[in-house]
Formats: sequence, structure tokens, C-alpha cells
Amino acid sequence: MGEIKKQALAGVMGWPVNHSLSPNLHGFWLEQYAIDGAYVRLAVSPANLEAAVRALPTLGFAGTNVTVPHKEAVMGFVDRIDPVAARIGAVNTIFVEDDGSLTGTNTDAYGFMENLKDKAPSWQARAATCVVLGAGGAARAVVASLVDAGVAEVRLVNRTRARAQQLAQSIGGPVCVHDWSAAAAVLDGASLVVNTTTLGMHNQPSLDLALDALPANAVVADIVYVPLVTPLLRQAEARGLATVDGLGMLLHQAVPGFAGWFGRSPQVTEALRDHVLEILAGRSR
Ligand code: ATR
Repeated sequence: MGEIKKQALAGVMGWPVNHSLSPNLHGFWLEQYAIDGAYVRLAVSPANLEAAVRALPTLGFAGTNVTVPHKEAVMGFVDRIDPVAARIGAVNTIFVEDDGSLTGTNTDAYGFMENLKDKAPSWQARAATCVVLGAGGAARAVVASLVDAGVAEVRLVNRTRARAQQLAQSIGGPVCVHDWSAAAAVLDGASLVVNTTTLGMHNQPSLDLALDALPANAVVADIVYVPLVTPLLRQAEARGLATVDGLGMLLHQAVPGFAGWFGRSPQVTEALRDHVLEILAGRSR
């Protein structure tokens, strides 16, 4: 009997996981590149997380994405955590190595920066003053990516100041914390503003922020992508500012995982974006 050729397998572990868009975007690439592989939803409860992660090599998985609520807990169940994930304090991508061991990484910081470069190519990290709103998991990735890109200053603003202070301390770099009430004032002189809070998301209150202090060449980014154009982005557009929506970060963060599992570095194209937007539109109907 000849050697059994294994199909490349990957997926996303979450609880619940039915709303994850990752199967749609990886599925698009698998089809586009005619790769004999599959990317599936893995509904794994917190109680079963360790067993599920440990079973990946036996089941023949090349790795998985990890989503809510497992991104932090999973750090205890992999064999090594790369420096980016350690710094962000969360793993969103696992690779099964050739020896069956598990490496955890985080691709959100990469995804944020790649999307920013893609959608706001004239923005320069060097000497930039940036404002980041929020101090949750997404903010950790955004702040880490900005610090690593060499920005001059990150002004971090969060409703709960202590959380922002914690984030600033653990990420390090030129990050200074400001009160939530100072959000509009700290926009003065900034070349980039990023909303990482849930404000502006479908069914959430919108982010109420006067953008008047922003210079005319500033970029306004939102990591929220439902809706695609948040009230913040609409307000920025009305002022003639460049905007970056949140969908691109989701698409770009998937690139390193796909490349590692399926052996081909995929492109983030308008066709992929349209495909995912169509799925989102279908859900809101
Ligand atoms: P994620 O990990 O996806 O970033 P999270 O950890 O729940 O999500 O963080 C949500 C962010 O939105 C936090 O910065 C949160 O502020 P707090 O740290 O004070 O909770 C922010 N946020 C949520 N609702 C908010 C509101 N009504 N006003 C201001 N900030 C809000």
C-alpha cells in the first residue's frame, strides 16, 4: 500500500464559534489556490479546551485559530508561546510543529499594521503620535504593533484608567495614559486615531468623540467592522480625513496562519473582501 496522503487541516476553536468568519475567508483561499485542505469550526467549551488542543496533532491538524473566550486560557496548553503572543498576552493562532509540539502566536498586531499600510499607505510610523481608545485584548495588539513600528508616542485612553495603565506597563514603549474625559483633547497633533472599544458596534452605543483637534492629514481607524462604516468613520469622512475600517485587520491577521498551515502565502484582495462583506450582509438580512 502506498503512503496515505494527508489533507491539510485547520480550523477555529471558540465557544460559541458559529459566527466566526474565519472559515469563510480561509475557505475562499483554499478554493482560490485549489489546495486540498479544509478549515472547520471547532466548538470547544472551556472545560474541553486542553483536551481539544492536545488532540490536534493526533487528529492530523496543521494548527488552528483560537477565538473568544479561549485566547488567554490556551496559553497554558501549548508547548511554546512566541514573543509577540507573550507580549500581547493572548494566542490566536496555533501551529502544530513537525515533532507534534504546539506553538502559539498572535497575528492581530501584524493584521492591524498590514491593513493600515494597505489602506493608508501615506501614513508614516516614524515620529507619529497616535491615540488608541480602549484597553481590551484588541487594544493590546494595536498598541504593540504601533510601538514595534517605531511610533513616537501612543496616547492611550480608556474608560477604566487602571486597565490602560496595566496595558501600558506590560507592553512598554512610549505609551502614556490619559483619562477618558480627555479623549477629544489628546487628538491634538495626532496623525492616527484607533478605536478598539466596542463603541460603534452594531447594538452598542456609538463613540461620541469630537474630531476637531485632529490635523487634516490624520488617519482615523476603527477595528469594529459591523457596521463597516461606524459613526466614528462617517464623522471622519465628513471632515475629509482618511479612514481605515476594521474588516481589513480581520483579513490580514489570517494570512500567517494560512501560510503556515497550507504552505502558500495568500493575498488579501478586493474579491476576498467582497466575499466576506456578502456573508455579513446575508447575516443582517
Ligand atoms: P476586546 O478584548 O475585544 O478588546 P474587551 O476586553 O471587552 O474587548 O474591551 C472592550 C473595550 O471597550 C474596553 O476598553 C472597554 O472599556 P473598559 O476597560 O473601561 O471596560 C471599552 N468599552 C466598552 N463599553 C464602553 C463604554 N460604554 N464606554 C467606554 N468604553 C467602553
